[in-house]
Amino acid sequence: MQVGLKIWRYDSTTGDRALKEYEVDAPEEATLLDCLDIVKDRLDGSLAYRKSCRMMICGSCGMRMDGGAVLACKVRMYDISNAGHVPVISAMGNLPIVKDLVVDMEPFWQKFKAMKPWLQPGYDQPAADEEYVISQERMNVIHKESLCINCGCCVSECNSMESDPEFLGPQALAKGMRFVGDPRDAAKTERLDQYSAEHGIWDCTRCYFCNERCPKGVDPRDAIAKLGAEAMKAGIDEDMGAKHAKWFVHSAKTTGWLRETELVPKTQGIVSSIKEMKFAMGLAVKGKVPPPFPPHVAEGVKESRALFELVKEQGVDGALGIVQGERALSRLEHEVGHASGGGGDTGVGSRDQADVTPGERPTRKPGGGA
Ligand code: SF4
Ligand code: SF4
Ligand code: FES
Repeated sequence: MQVGLKIWRYDSTTGDRALKEYEVDAPEEATLLDCLDIVKDRLDGSLAYRKSCRMMICGSCGMRMDGGAVLACKVRMYDISNAGHVPVISAMGNLPIVKDLVVDMEPFWQKFKAMKPWLQPGYDQPAADEEYVISQERMNVIHKESLCINCGCCVSECNSMESDPEFLGPQALAKGMRFVGDPRDAAKTERLDQYSAEHGIWDCTRCYFCNERCPKGVDPRDAIAKLGAEAMKAGIDEDMGAKHAKWFVHSAKTTGWLRETELVPKTQGIVSSIKEMKFAMGLAVKGKVPPPFPPHVAEGVKESRALFELVKEQGVDGALGIVQGERALSRLEHEVGHASGGGGDTGVGSRDQADVTPGERPTRKPGGGA
């Protein structure tokens, strides 16, 4: 097959930058990485990019295709070339470019090391000749985080890192969760303290681009949510982000709604809120601020309260709850939804058509269909 590529060439020593177009004859099973190899081998030996395993394991070949990070050895070119599309290939974002598609990974590794990515043992030693066994339930909490291959694709697309290069970032925080969630680790509280500081957990904008771009299904944003839940469970909740999240929960529990008028004082404190009074009055005049009294209580608030109590009763108010929620949603959306042709937000197999009991298959409500 004929494959066309437009590649951003860059030389950091001269600052020269140019978009060059190449066309290669490649086998039908060729990946983007194979095509780059052909370009380098037959057309231009000066093209620079990283690679090693060629099978999505080493994490070396991260780069951007049409503006989104990919692993070059994971992208098959057949459909792209058949569609007549000529993708633009460039270096990953949020890291300095050294040459062409090669970025300087040093800032990435510095953040990685800052997470102390090794186990700090603090568990009772098992009896002689026995091993320390971790339950499947506990392993589920860090299963996805353990899949990370340190490719940097998530970092490349992180909005928060773009505006704050000191933000720890999705990869480092996912690595942090890998150890926070490990029952053998003795430094959980210290880690949560460290990760909750400025440039940490609460500086994530929740754009979910890291989840979207991760080629290994690590879902770093979910790892950050788990860290936030664990931090709050441990009482590490002084950051404004933590207070904001706490108020969401409290508001939903008490009235079934998000009481936005109280969100600012509860998050920022009274003094800071007074400074925003002029702005708030402006909003009120335009009818954008609902009166705080009497608070509007949702009709089904009992359900909301019962949910809160259930989570507490089951002890899943930390990372375990997020894993449980993920599993329930994925079962609803993929298993039930797929089998019935439903899924999504409405209809058979949708979230509001099933009641979820942990550990059991979701059932349909009467009238919900097949
Ligand atoms: S969700 Fe958070 S960590 Fe992930 S890319 Fe967006 S800002 Fe970055
Ligand atoms: S979390 Fe995913 S995208 Fe980020 S470094 Fe790890 S494997 Fe790559
Ligand atoms: S070459 Fe190893 S992940 Fe692509």
